[in-house]
Amino acid sequence: MTVSGTPIQLRGPVLTRRQAGAYVSLTVVAPGIPEQFRPGQFVAVAVGGEGSAMLLRRAFSIFDVKPDHGGAVEFVFAVHGKGTAWLADRRPRDVLDLVGPLGRPFPLPRYPAHCVLVGGGYGSAPLFTLADRLRGRGCRVDFVLGAATADRVFGALTARRVGETARITTEDGSLGARGVVTDVLPSVIRESQGDVVYACGPMPMLRAVSALAARAGIPAQVAVEETMACGIGVCMTCVLPVIGDDDITRMVRSCVDGPVFRGDRVRWNDAGTVPPDALGATAGVKVR
Ligand SMILES: Cc1cc2nc3c(=O)[nH]c(=O)nc-3n(C[C@H](O)[C@H](O)[C@H](O)COP(=O)(O)OP(=O)(O)OC[C@H]3O[C@@H](n4cnc5c(N)ncnc54)[C@H](O)[C@@H]3O)c2cc1C
Ligand code: FES
Repeated sequence: MTVSGTPIQLRGPVLTRRQAGAYVSLTVVAPGIPEQFRPGQFVAVAVGGEGSAMLLRRAFSIFDVKPDHGGAVEFVFAVHGKGTAWLADRRPRDVLDLVGPLGRPFPLPRYPAHCVLVGGGYGSAPLFTLADRLRGRGCRVDFVLGAATADRVFGALTARRVGETARITTEDGSLGARGVVTDVLPSVIRESQGDVVYACGPMPMLRAVSALAARAGIPAQVAVEETMACGIGVCMTCVLPVIGDDDITRMVRSCVDGPVFRGDRVRWNDAGTVPPDALGATAGVKVR
């Protein structure tokens, strides 16, 4: 029995492994996680097997949860380094050790708002369960998804099916419009009469999306991807300077205080440092 809101650590077998363009998707038996899950949360997965020198868990946004086998969780990833290469070699029935759901989810509007969902690469993954919840509340959902190439755009078909509109961009023009998501975002906000932007993707994209939303006079809720070590709030690896409601900058932990933040509250220019005016800072210190 688990307490609601408390992350669960479990070992579960891989149910399915599929290739989704440039990404690998794994569905893992994870009883208890679907009941607690809210869009924007992530799982931290142990990699390398027992006795591995890779001590740190790897974080992945939860793409979907399912009732299969008492509860299952699906995440989607790109092979980046050793940990994700090991994960990409997992096959059905291999057992994974994971902790989740972790982090603060995307806040949902209290009224049927017009919501623009922006995803870069695998950053689209957490946006589909979010879209379901938003539509369940009577919100309008428009998608803007982008990546460098067509095989790195995740979920274009689903976005076209679920969204009121879905604009796709690729840097090489192999799918949708040639360019980046921020090229089309202002017109999507305008045409959909957007009230709020939700975004997940690389940090430079989130920064640009936050600036465009601010220019349009609407809030942006962004899920950041800061480098994480423990994933549970104890090591301070993932800190980011964020301005609070009292206008004071604090170094907050992306893993437990995020990964979702209001875009206009993140001090993007100072990410990776402790700004001298941050609460408790002694000097302008680099954290990475
Ligand atoms: C909240 C969150 C959600 C994420 N969701 C996804 C997802 O849905 N799909 C996906 O493909 N990737 C996602 N990532 C990035 C993913 O965690 C990294 O790609 C992965 O940790 C790289 O591990 P590696 O061993 O292959 O690479 P290595 O470079 O060997 O990793 C070594 C260490 O560096 C850190 N690290 C490396 N790259 C990143 C990165 N881009 N972001 C954060 N930490 C990093 C990790 O802590 C890891 O322990 C997410 C990261 C965070 C923080
Ligand atoms: S990753 Fe350790 S505090 Fe966030």
